[in-house]
Amino acid sequence: MNQLRSTAKLVHMNPQNVGRAIVAALLCALLQVLGVGCDKSASSSATSSSSSGRPKIGFVVKQPEEPWFQLEWKFAQQAADEGGFDLVKIGAPDGEKALAAIDNLGAQGAAGIIICAPDVRLGPAIDAKCNANNIKLLTVDDRFIGGDGKPMESVHHLGISARNIGRIVGKALYDEMNKRGWKPQETALCAVTFDELETAKERTDGAIEALTQAGFPKAKVFTTPQKTSDVPGAFDATNVLLTQHPDVKHWLICGMNDSAVMGAVRAMEGRGFGADELIGIGINGTDCLVEFKKEKPTGFYASVLLTPRRHGYETAQMMYKWVKDNVEPAKVTYTDGLIITRDTYAKVMKEQALSTD
Ligand code: GLA
Repeated sequence: MNQLRSTAKLVHMNPQNVGRAIVAALLCALLQVLGVGCDKSASSSATSSSSSGRPKIGFVVKQPEEPWFQLEWKFAQQAADEGGFDLVKIGAPDGEKALAAIDNLGAQGAAGIIICAPDVRLGPAIDAKCNANNIKLLTVDDRFIGGDGKPMESVHHLGISARNIGRIVGKALYDEMNKRGWKPQETALCAVTFDELETAKERTDGAIEALTQAGFPKAKVFTTPQKTSDVPGAFDATNVLLTQHPDVKHWLICGMNDSAVMGAVRAMEGRGFGADELIGIGINGTDCLVEFKKEKPTGFYASVLLTPRRHGYETAQMMYKWVKDNVEPAKVTYTDGLIITRDTYAKVMKEQALSTD
C-alpha cells in the first residue's frame, strides 16, 4: 500500500526526487521480498508526512480574504490545536491554484483535505487526485458537481441547508416590509443571483419562494446575475438592474451571502437610496458586521447568521477522526442559521459563542 501511495506521488516530484523515490521503492520491494519489510519513512523520504509525525490535514478555501473563510480557518485551527494534528491552510482563488494546492498537500503527505473549491466543476479532477494520493476528502460549503452536472454524492460534504436559509430571508423581508408599511406597488425585490453554484441558487430561490408565498407579487421580483461572487460582482449586477427599473421607490434585497447584499446596497446608495428605502438581508452573519457597526443604520438590515464554528471546527474534527481512527463522517451534513439585525447581533453572537470582533 505504501509503495502504491509513493508511486502515485511521483507525479508531484522533480526528476531528481523521482529518481530517489524509485530507488527507495525498489529497495523497499526487495526488502519485502526478503521478508524484512520497510518503514514508511524509507519508502517516501522525499514526501514524508508532517515532520512532527502528527497527521497533516489541509484546509483549502476559495476566498481567503472573506471573514467567513477566515473564521472557518480559525475554528479549524482550534480543532487542530486541541486534537494534536497539523493544519495546512491554503487559499485557492482559481482552479489552477486549487489543483496546485492538492498536489502540494499530496507532496507534503497530507492524510486528509477539506475544501471549498473556487469552481465546483473541478470536483472530479480533485477527487481523482485525492484518490491517487490516498487522501481523504471532505467538501465544505460548496458541493462538487460531477461530469453529469449533478452533485457528487460519493464525496463527503458539509454545507448549509440552503433553501431553508433562503426561506428565512424571504420571510424576514416580507415581515419587515409590512412593518414599514411599504406598498407592494412601490416596492420590488432585487435578487442578486449566482446560479452556477447550487448552494447559491437554492438560497435565492428559497428567498423568492417564501416571499411570493407570503403574498409578494411575482411581477415585482427582479433577478440580476453576478459575474463574480463578491462585493464588486454584486455591485455591477445591481447597477444593471437599477438602470432597468428607475421607478421603484423601495427595494428589498437578497443574495447568496452578505457580500452579495453589501454590493447591492452600495450600488443603491450610489443612486440615492438610503436605509429608509432599503431592506437588505444577507446570509453568513460574519462579513456584514462592518455594516452593523457603522454609526448610522445602512440599507443592510439583517443577515442569517450561519455556523462558521461547525463549518471549521467540526469539519476538521470529522476529518481527524477519519484519518486517525477510520471513523467515516456522515456522507452529508446540513447546518442551519438564525436571523440577526443591528439590534440583536451582539446578543445572538454571544449566545453562539462567536466573537463580534
Ligand atoms: C458559500 C459562500 C460563502 C458562505 C458559504 C456557507 O461558499 O461563498 O460566503 O455563504 O457558502 O456555506
